[in-house]
Amino acid sequence: KNMAARSKVKLGFDSIAGAKLDAVVVPKGYSAQVLAPWGTPLNDLAQEWQADGSNTAFDQANSLGMHHDGMHYFPLNGSATDGLLCINHEYIDQQALHPAGPTQDSHNLRTIIDEVRKEINAHGVTIVRIKQTNGIWEVVKNDSHNRRFTGATTMDISGPVADKTLLETPFSPAGDKVRGTLNNCGNGYTPWGTYLTCEENWPGYFVNTGTQTADQQRIGIDANNTRYGWDDLTGVRDEIDDEFKRFDITKTGKNASEDYRNEANGHGYIVEIDPYNNQSSAIKRTALGRFRHEGCVFGQVVEGKPIVFYSGHDSRFEYIYKFVSDVDWHAADAKRDDRLAVGAKYMDRGTLYVARFDDNGAGYWLPLTLASKTKNGGTLADTFTDLAGLILNTAGAADLVGATPMDRPEWAAVDPVNGAVYMTLTNNTKRTTETNAANPRLNNSTGHIIRWQEGDDAELFSWDVFVFGAPEDGTAEVNRSGLEALNQFASPDGLAFDARGIMWIQTDNGAPELTEYTNDQMLAVVPSQLTNDSGDLETINSDNQTALKRFFVGPNGAEVTGLAFSPAQTDLFLNIQHPKNWPHSNDATMETPSNKTVRPRAATVIIRKNDGGEIGV
Ligand code: FEO
Ligand code: CA
Ligand code: CA
Ligand code: CA
Repeated sequence: KNMAARSKVKLGFDSIAGAKLDAVVVPKGYSAQVLAPWGTPLNDLAQEWQADGSNTAFDQANSLGMHHDGMHYFPLNGSATDGLLCINHEYIDQQALHPAGPTQDSHNLRTIIDEVRKEINAHGVTIVRIKQTNGIWEVVKNDSHNRRFTGATTMDISGPVADKTLLETPFSPAGDKVRGTLNNCGNGYTPWGTYLTCEENWPGYFVNTGTQTADQQRIGIDANNTRYGWDDLTGVRDEIDDEFKRFDITKTGKNASEDYRNEANGHGYIVEIDPYNNQSSAIKRTALGRFRHEGCVFGQVVEGKPIVFYSGHDSRFEYIYKFVSDVDWHAADAKRDDRLAVGAKYMDRGTLYVARFDDNGAGYWLPLTLASKTKNGGTLADTFTDLAGLILNTAGAADLVGATPMDRPEWAAVDPVNGAVYMTLTNNTKRTTETNAANPRLNNSTGHIIRWQEGDDAELFSWDVFVFGAPEDGTAEVNRSGLEALNQFASPDGLAFDARGIMWIQTDNGAPELTEYTNDQMLAVVPSQLTNDSGDLETINSDNQTALKRFFVGPNGAEVTGLAFSPAQTDLFLNIQHPKNWPHSNDATMETPSNKTVRPRAATVIIRKNDGGEIGV
């Protein structure tokens, strides 16, 4: 493997200072445009977004959802100025969504059906056509590609869990359809032109007040409440069909038409969407495992070799996974029109692995099959009777084989120059007693980025820590990468390479050490250029740390997430999630409900160079 390959790109901007503004900050010579904020109508069915929160659930189903997260740009006819933006909507701010926050009755139960429908419709994914003219991007309203997938959209499901006994519900007695996608956080895309949306904190939307199954206990389905109380519509509960009752998966013992115990089995997956075909269904690809998927990225694509996907489970002490397709890649599949059939070929059959990081920089991908050996000398067949059951409790299976508990795995990115894989480990302040080589800091409030390179065998890899987030004044134990004011960061989360080999790092800052200095940010670095004399990749350290440059700072209260690029590398798309007020300057009429000073709107930001040239150089 030639790790000596280096990107030739040269970062051509000066690292910018941290900022705490209610605005976005970009380097000199760049401009930023706000596009497609929450509530932007996709078509004429929806009313324009109303600053008083009065838009209906129906409006919301035909408009951009809330809390933009992962994102990808799909060109139409290869165009850098005309394409489809796919945007995840991770969760909601109930205060901002409704005129005066969520309506509650005296028992603190939710009473307004349309509010709950609006909340469900504000989740999911948007596909929207956008066009650029003279450097300005616009949403193409009423375009036939425009569509929403919400927490209520009917979807297909495939792979090992596509099994009637696991998915039979009142909604789908045949057990072949599932409803909705929830908490769509990071994303991916495929070499064959489809979008991947990742279901992250879905367990919080379900409740089981009775006896929980092993997988429900392991993933943490709550025994008392759901995140937004959708299961708990007092007074209307019996009149409304399974639209809301489905979130209570307690085994009732009632007749089959009221038994929702399988509802959550349809959640926790990588979901494939063909943005180019507006007649296609989303398909949940269960072979890639069931956990809190943060993102999903494919490894280096090689003709005649399997397709590989990486995905992290974002929770404290959870694991990193990879999926390897059974069949080998054929480049002709990149150009087929039946993209979801290609998806079935590469994503429905394969082997799921979980990572074990050993002390000496060696790593092992532990397969998760029934025959896999467990730590205590048995096999996974001692616990699981079939692959469907194993996938349903992926994290439980990973426990048994001895995977390494990580500091909250978030996004992964693959260097196009040499195939090295990077994954953000955002933070873990609950690591109070036991470190391991790959997660070496106690009370890891600032996070790190781990890197690995695949070995010759599918089960071997080598790894190191590329960079540790830290405040510049952190002790040597904390600031291990020698960061300084112009690149100190915490809580790396969004991560992507562009086609030239620049790696972009976005933060979702939980560390007080850094929030005093700056809002969340995005940095850039070209890792393949950091090599030693023998051509081995280097980590960030006090000798080379200036290679890591701050490119962008977000507005108050927001996390910076979602990364996409136009094919010409002239336009960088990112998302501003959960801003405090922003971008209120666009609309002076946004008056406050309850505790907000203005009604904030997550939105996409498009960054361009003023001269129209390539970003970052
Ligand atoms: Fe939704 Fe792990 O960030
Ligand atoms: Ca994230
Ligand atoms: Ca995060
Ligand atoms: Ca988030």
